[in-house]
Amino acid sequence: MEHVDMISRPRRLRQSGVLRKMVRETRVDKSSLIYPAFVAEGISEKVEIPSMAGQYRHTLDSILYLAEDMLKAGVDKFLLFGIPEEKDEKGSQAYCENGIVQAAMRTLKEHFPELYLIGDVCMCEYTSHGHCGILKGNDVDNDKTLKYLAKTALSQVEAGADMVAPSDMMDGRVLAIRQLLDENGYTNTPIMSYAVKYASSFYGPFREAAGSAPSFGDRKTYQMDYHNIREGIKEALTDVDEGADIIMVKPAMAYGDVISAVKEATCLPVAAYSVSGEYSMVKCAAAAGCVDEAGIICEMAVSSFRAGTDIYATYFAKEIAQYIDEGRIG
Ligand code: PBG
Repeated sequence: MEHVDMISRPRRLRQSGVLRKMVRETRVDKSSLIYPAFVAEGISEKVEIPSMAGQYRHTLDSILYLAEDMLKAGVDKFLLFGIPEEKDEKGSQAYCENGIVQAAMRTLKEHFPELYLIGDVCMCEYTSHGHCGILKGNDVDNDKTLKYLAKTALSQVEAGADMVAPSDMMDGRVLAIRQLLDENGYTNTPIMSYAVKYASSFYGPFREAAGSAPSFGDRKTYQMDYHNIREGIKEALTDVDEGADIIMVKPAMAYGDVISAVKEATCLPVAAYSVSGEYSMVKCAAAAGCVDEAGIICEMAVSSFRAGTDIYATYFAKEIAQYIDEGRIG
């Protein structure tokens, strides 16, 4: 038998499935998965989102079936987005006691107390102009917006949210939310801050889903420039100082370097959001027969955890849970 003198042979540890699994460096667990869900006013049954095959705008009724289905699969965390019928300049439905997201939280909590509910706190789904805050001229008025965001967070917590997740990217919003929650006795409600959120074309399908595309301009005066990573660390550290409990990086797939850097720079758990465009690209490429859908989903998820993600928000949460059950990843 031919034999070259070699002491180190990396292939030794790849000889069998048992061995490969034993030496895995990254472990994936269902408890770290969050499923983003949309609940909408003005529809009588769930409606599929055209650019996101398999994802729906839900009614207050259909969201309960979704919750049952997800819990059965082992996914027990929802990130909830509301889509109101009426949008106005000040995004009033975002902080309305009877807003759609507040109503969804109450009914979900009533039927499934074991479901962990995270409220997305932002104004763009609720404003007529589609920007993430209150406008002054053609720009978002940062400081004026803070009290609206805080009010939105409080109304969600009063409706049953276990955690709030501000995604607006205004400066100072984590502190504003923390203070208002604390004043109202919610000192134990955590804030997961979308601290490192880039102005990204990967959000395209979401904006169709939520009807939240800005009616003019873009989000570049508040969301981050994707050329920057040190600025992301600055954003993360600022939010740590303001009382954030979890730091999120968004999008996930093209931002592994940012996830690793934020993990290194803070002592907080790091979440990554695999956004709508990531989902749609996989669905379209798989439907066209270009890639193996399950393979791609697994590889994307594991690569995010490998980069340092502790918590993974993904529209593929149910599929990933199934792949974990099947032993494909884990
Ligand atoms: C709200 C918000 C957005 C997303 C999450 N929260 C859209 C945006 O910033 O334009 C994107 C989520 C996704 O693409 O899946 N600001």
